[in-house]
Amino acid sequence: QTGLNTLDYGFVNTGATKSAITYIDGDQGILRYRGYPIDQVASGCTYLEVAWLLIYGELPTDEELAGFDARIRRHTLLHEDLRRLFDALPHSAHPMSVLSSAVSALSTYYEDDMDVDDPEKVELQTVRLLAKLPVIAAYAHKKAIGQAFLYPDNKLSFVDNFLRLNFGTMAEPYEPNPVLSKALERLLILHEDHEQNASTSTVRLVGSTKANMFASISAGINALYGPLHGGANEAVLEMLQQIKDSGEPVSRFVERVKNKERGVKLMGFGHRVYKNYDPRAKLVKESAHEVLQSLGVQDDLLDIAMELEQIALEDEYFVSRKLYPNVDFYTGIIYRAMGFPPRMFTVLFAIGRLPGWIAQWRELNNDPLNKIGRPQQLYVGHPERDLPAR
Ligand code: SDX
Repeated sequence: QTGLNTLDYGFVNTGATKSAITYIDGDQGILRYRGYPIDQVASGCTYLEVAWLLIYGELPTDEELAGFDARIRRHTLLHEDLRRLFDALPHSAHPMSVLSSAVSALSTYYEDDMDVDDPEKVELQTVRLLAKLPVIAAYAHKKAIGQAFLYPDNKLSFVDNFLRLNFGTMAEPYEPNPVLSKALERLLILHEDHEQNASTSTVRLVGSTKANMFASISAGINALYGPLHGGANEAVLEMLQQIKDSGEPVSRFVERVKNKERGVKLMGFGHRVYKNYDPRAKLVKESAHEVLQSLGVQDDLLDIAMELEQIALEDEYFVSRKLYPNVDFYTGIIYRAMGFPPRMFTVLFAIGRLPGWIAQWRELNNDPLNKIGRPQQLYVGHPERDLPAR
């Protein structure tokens, strides 16, 4: 049949991906990493502990964690030539573009270690990415603000090493702030995996061709960049700022969303799976209050966000469409209070999601039944026809 609107068919499901890593129940608002509920993991573990859990399937022993941490610390330095890659990019480059470019370029320094079927080399790729992505991210930030890059300080914890690379300068020593470290660790954990979301599916699709881990994750970073996905945390802050700058009542903005004016959406709301409150959003909202309070920051964008949420949760338009806050709704408020510019928010999402991408890529790569990804198509174009006589 011709002329049918492909949107009538929506997304043609190519058959569910089998995975043992993360479980989501969208109606109940349940999220578990290898069976552990997200709220327990987010408050009781560290980012690297959860990375180990997602990648290897069980929580690490103290000895395993110490060894993992030590191996990652040993790989935090970037090749000096790669540091020069940043000089070739404009100051105005979006940090997500810098991140995906640098991760793709990273593989060129280790081409002898890119064999996807050699377990030792897959381990090397794993620790190198976990160690170097935060450094690349911090350099993208420093590049954007025109400040000199620091070298990693491996005496610091994973999170403090990252914070120092972002906020430390050559002019004075960096003093870790335990409130920021704890809040960032928790936010990174909340983002570590989320089953077959768009960016993870991209990592798996590219990885299914036997492309190396770095190439697959560079593709995932690009998928995450989109404002309907990871880019939403940056878009939420822009939305809140616009509401504030307009001076209009929040309810007026909500009306515009309901009238679908120029495709205006309530960014940070809605989800492909959660038709209930995203359990991560609840935990992020708690963190937002804690961080702002402990930093003595009063952010009226948080007040606007809470008023938006209050209105939307009681409004039939959102309730009938099961639209609730998702993980991106409050994260930007915290990242901004920490001192990150909005264009770094999705980069922080990528650092959080990296262990999940690696775990999912390895799970697929270890699956002997893995088939190269090829989503099905529903052909709705012209039937056979002949070229006009010429
Ligand atoms: C992430 O998949 C994951 O797990 C992703 C993620 C992860 O951890 O990896 O959780 C991270 O990407 C969270 C989502 C971040 N994106 C945003 O916050 C952008 C705003 N949200 C929407 O674009 C939307 O909700 C999606 C894309 C997230 C989900 O879209 P769906 O499920 O495909 O919903 P839909 O587009 O079919 O919408 C159903 C209805 C439509 O109205 P009608 O046509 O029926 O009248 O709900 C409306 C939509 O217009 N709608 C919204 C809305 N989201 C959906 N209306 C206003 N604001 C919104 N945010």
